Amino acid sequence: MASYDDVMSLSVRRGFLWPAVDLYGGFAGFYDYGHNGVLLRRRWEDLWIETFLGLSDNYYLIDTTTILPEAALKASGHVDHFTDILVTCTRCGESYRGDHLLETKTHEEHEGLTPEEIDARIRELKIRCPNCGGELGPARAFNMMFPLGIGPMGKDRAYLRPETAQGVYLNFKREFEALRRKLPMGLAIVGRAYRNEISPRQGAYRMREFLQAELQIFFDPATFADLVPIGAAGSEPLRIAWAHEKNEPTADDVSSKDAVGRGLPSWYVYHLIQVQRFYLNALRVPRDAFRFAELDEKERAFYNKIHFDVQVKQESLGGFKEVGGVHYRTDHDLKGHESGSHAKQSITFGSSKLVPHVLELSFGVDRNVWALLDLTFHKGERAVLRLPPRLAPIGVAVFPLVNKDGIPEHAERVYAQLQRRFTAFFDDSGSIGRRYARMDEIGTPFSVTVDHETLEGKGVTVRERDSQKQIRVKEADLPDTLTRLLSGESSFVA
Ligand code: GLY
Repeated sequence: MASYDDVMSLSVRRGFLWPAVDLYGGFAGFYDYGHNGVLLRRRWEDLWIETFLGLSDNYYLIDTTTILPEAALKASGHVDHFTDILVTCTRCGESYRGDHLLETKTHEEHEGLTPEEIDARIRELKIRCPNCGGELGPARAFNMMFPLGIGPMGKDRAYLRPETAQGVYLNFKREFEALRRKLPMGLAIVGRAYRNEISPRQGAYRMREFLQAELQIFFDPATFADLVPIGAAGSEPLRIAWAHEKNEPTADDVSSKDAVGRGLPSWYVYHLIQVQRFYLNALRVPRDAFRFAELDEKERAFYNKIHFDVQVKQESLGGFKEVGGVHYRTDHDLKGHESGSHAKQSITFGSSKLVPHVLELSFGVDRNVWALLDLTFHKGERAVLRLPPRLAPIGVAVFPLVNKDGIPEHAERVYAQLQRRFTAFFDDSGSIGRRYARMDEIGTPFSVTVDHETLEGKGVTVRERDSQKQIRVKEADLPDTLTRLLSGESSFVA
C-alpha cells in the first residue's frame, strides 16, 4: 500500500522519475526519468515487444516522425474530433475538464457528454469554480493536439502526433509491399505522443508528453477468427467490468466462451486473453488489481467500434486507472487516409481485395511504469520494491563484506565477470545492511557478497531481495545460476 507521495518520494530519491523543469517552478504535465527509471522503462518496453510481437512472425517494430501535417490528422479525424470539454472560470480564469468537475462532485465517471449536457449537469449540481468559488463559463470542445507552424514563416500547419498509431497507418502500404503481402500483419511503434491536457493535475498519470507502445494489427475481418487460435486459450476467465456496471468497483471473471456469447468477436477475445496474460503472468499484477473496462458508444474514442480499457488498481491514484486499451478501429483510419490522400489503401490478399481492418493494442508506457512502482513498493519496516526480477533496473549487486584482506579486489573481479552478462552494480560504501537496503529500494533481486570464505574457495553468498535469505554458490556456477534466477527458469531455494 503506497500513497502518491510515497511513490513519488521513492521515485525522486532513487532516480526513477519526477516533475520536469523544477528549477523554473515546474512544467505541469511533463516528467523526466532518472537513471533507474530509464532502465525500468526499457525493461518494460523489451518485455512488451517480446510478448506482443511474439504473437506472430508477421509482426514488426517500425519508427516514424512525431510531427505530422494537418492534412493527415484531418483525414484521421483528430483535427475535428480529438477533443475534451473545457470549462473556464469567469472570475479567476482557471481551466477544468468538464467531466472531471462532475466526477469530483458525484464520484462517478461522466465521459462522453456533450458541452450542453455538461453545462446542464453543472447547473443542476450547482458546481462553482473549485479554485475561487466563481461562476463557471460555458463548456466548449477543446482540441487536445499541440499545433505547430512548419518553416520560417510557420505557413505549413502541423501537430505533434497525438498517438503513435497514425505513423503506422501512413506506412501500411509500403510495409505490406516490403513484407510478405500477408494478413494479419502487425506494425508496432514505441515512441512519444503529445496531448495538450486541459488540467494535468493527476501527477504522473496525466502527462502532456508521454510514451506509447502500440501494436496495429491489420486483418481481413472475413478470416481473422480462423487465424487466431482462441481454442488454445481454452476457457481462460477474463476480468471484465462491462459498460453498464462501469461505476461498480468490481470485475467479473468471464469465460472466453461467455465473452464471445455476449457478442465480442472471438479474435477480439483472443487478444484480451493475451493482454491479461501479459499483466498477470509477465508483470505479475495481482488478479484483483487487474481488469478490462468496456466503454460504451458515448464513451469510446471516435475511431473505435469496440473499446475496452486495460486498468490496474493503484492505491497511489485512488483505484482502477487506465494503462492501456484494446481497440477495434475497423477500416476507419486507412479509409480516412485513402480519401484524404487519394492514394488507394486497398490490397489484394488471397482472393479478396480489401481495405484491412485494424485491431490496436495500445499501452501508456509511463502509466505502466508508475503502476509497477505503485504495486511493488512496500514501505513497512524495510522499504522494498518487489519488481519482477526481469524488470529490475539492476539485476545483481556485488559487495565486498569488508574493505580489507584482499576482499574488495576479489569482489571487483566477480563484478567484472558479472557485468559482461547482467546489469550489475558494485558497492563498497557503508555497512552491508545499508548496502542491501539501498538495493531493496530499487528492486535489485539478488545481491552477491564476497567474504573471507570466498577467499578459501567456498563461493559467494547470494541474497534474495524478498525473503532476505542467502545461499552459497560456487564462483564458477554464479553466472549461470543468476541467469536462471533472473529469467525465472529456476526459483530461489534457501
Ligand atoms: N492510439 C490509441 C490511443 O492513443 O489511445
